[in-house]
Amino acid sequence: MSISCFSLLFCLPFFTFLTIHSKPVTSPYLSPTTIFPHYQNMLKTFKIFIYTPNEAFTFNTPAESLFYASLRNSPFVTHDAEEAHLFFVPFASGLSTRSIARVIRRLREELPYWNRTLGADHFYLSCAGLGYESNRNLVELKKNSVQISCFPASAGKFIPHKDIALPPFPKSNVPQAPANRTARFLGYFGHSGVKESSLVNELVNDPDFLIESEPSDQLSYTERLASSKFCLFEYGGDVSGIGEALRFGCVPAVITDRPIQDLPFLDVLRWQEIAVFVPVGGVKELKRVLGRTYGDRHEQMSKLGVKASEHFVWNRVPQPLDSFHTVMYQLYLRRHTIRYPRRERD
Ligand SMILES: *[C@@H]1O[C@H](CO)[C@@H](O)[C@H](O)[C@H]1NC(C)=O
Ligand SMILES: *[C@@H]1O[C@H](CO)[C@@H](O)[C@H](O)[C@H]1NC(C)=O
Repeated sequence: MSISCFSLLFCLPFFTFLTIHSKPVTSPYLSPTTIFPHYQNMLKTFKIFIYTPNEAFTFNTPAESLFYASLRNSPFVTHDAEEAHLFFVPFASGLSTRSIARVIRRLREELPYWNRTLGADHFYLSCAGLGYESNRNLVELKKNSVQISCFPASAGKFIPHKDIALPPFPKSNVPQAPANRTARFLGYFGHSGVKESSLVNELVNDPDFLIESEPSDQLSYTERLASSKFCLFEYGGDVSGIGEALRFGCVPAVITDRPIQDLPFLDVLRWQEIAVFVPVGGVKELKRVLGRTYGDRHEQMSKLGVKASEHFVWNRVPQPLDSFHTVMYQLYLRRHTIRYPRRERD
């Protein structure tokens, strides 16, 4: 078969077609060739200045606490604000908006860094996320600074492309995956049992699905993950097992009634290659979507998911490419904020 291209415009769609349909995706990353060099540069150069909090405080969730402790003990911290790429504003979970506004007002008045970018090179941790307020300090914090919140974020409290979602903190440490997977079930749904959704009630009697409220023990939990093709999660429900599902090659099937814009590592991973998103619509819809992902496609997704899973691991002492470091990498990607030009020395 010979193809002649009369013009570049004619050829382009053809090549686009080729890349989309003939080359299987072999990397879970959006930028497979640049992520690792950039990550190495981050380790060498990235600097964060942490403001001194007004008073001792704690975070309410394990992911926030561990992230903050890891950051404070990391080589990213600088005590020289002039060399910092980003500034971290620490304040307690659940601090009133009035008190947060006071924190920002003080930074603005006492130090030059906030005014330089009106907060755009600043970030903060807030699991629940901040809402829209009318106070100027809060407006700038919310609209300009990078918010790191928990996944899933509360509706209306997450600004896509700017904000970052922490990967969920697993409920327990699960042992290593069994050496071989034999998927006997189409889907596994380990739900907390708190909220009995109508879907769960529909699935309980379906032999293709394994549904349980409390895994009997850790080993059987890993076997269950390994014995199912898909692990079901309801967006807005308990998603704490999503990293483990990936690690065990159980492709996450996230049931959602709207596009999800707060997925962890949305600007790092190709989520469409490691998970499926299922519209709310009962068992029929679920089986239809999962059924499209059989065979080689499922195999490939499962493999890429295992590769991606290292980014979902939370370690007491941070390890390369784990949750802490990948969130840092997302911050690193956001370091070139719009900022007022610094005055050059002459
Ligand atoms: C920052 O700007 C505000 C006015 O918007 C001003 O009141 C404040 O003094 C400035 N801060 C510094 C440190 O210059
Ligand atoms: C792994 O596969 C082998 C052969 O296919 C089988 O005999 C063995 O029981 C499997 N192990 C597990 C843990 O499923």
